[in-house]
Amino acid sequence: MNWFRLSVVIAVLLPIYYYLDTYVLPTLYIFDPEVLQQIVTDSLATAPKDNTTALFVEINRRLKNEYGDNINEFNTDDWIFNNAGNAMGSMFIQHASISEYLIFFGTALGTEGHTGVHPSNDYFYILKGEQWAHSLGNPEPEIYRPGDMHWLKRGTVKQYSMPSTAWALELAQGWIPGMLPFGLADTVFSTLDFRTFGRTAYFTAKSMFECALRGKF
Ligand SMILES: *[C@@H]1O[C@H](CO)[C@@H](O)[C@H](O)[C@H]1NC(C)=O
Repeated sequence: MNWFRLSVVIAVLLPIYYYLDTYVLPTLYIFDPEVLQQIVTDSLATAPKDNTTALFVEINRRLKNEYGDNINEFNTDDWIFNNAGNAMGSMFIQHASISEYLIFFGTALGTEGHTGVHPSNDYFYILKGEQWAHSLGNPEPEIYRPGDMHWLKRGTVKQYSMPSTAWALELAQGWIPGMLPFGLADTVFSTLDFRTFGRTAYFTAKSMFECALRGKF
């Protein structure tokens, strides 16, 4: 190992990363957190009560109206289990590209775990039930209810739980490939559920590829 050469490589790559991160990444975003908030608020008001699937259908329809081909049409066959940070739930991928993902995430039972340390901003709109969060130094839980949005800033870590049945619309904006190791580690090293691993990889890669073909990265 030649330490001089390594430091030259790092000195060249760091400014490139900084440039991409600061000036290029934000130009790739198409989703507006305020538009999503409006869609969630409107859908909660108009969708049939006590039918969470109908709420998913309503939100997906409004998202497709707004964002067209960048949204995968909702269907109940394409849910995928997700284990990450010791929490378990399931998700439906509505959009995945290099810089953004937009999913339904939640659980019929409740769960608890680590948020992960992500190179992205995470916007978590509660649709049903509650999400609780624990920030270091605050002995009281933060409680998010239907219609609320929990913004987990890039790099921030919390403990979170969904104490019982809870569902959310989740937008992540940042370096999405950098989030995948956290999203798959519990599957590879704990559950050994390789069908879920395969479905996660398949649906993520399919969405990213279809977006890339349309020039959305
Ligand atoms: C809930 O809504 C879904 C989607 O619109 C529908 O297919 C289902 O039949 C509804 N369930 C009940 C119990 O009404």
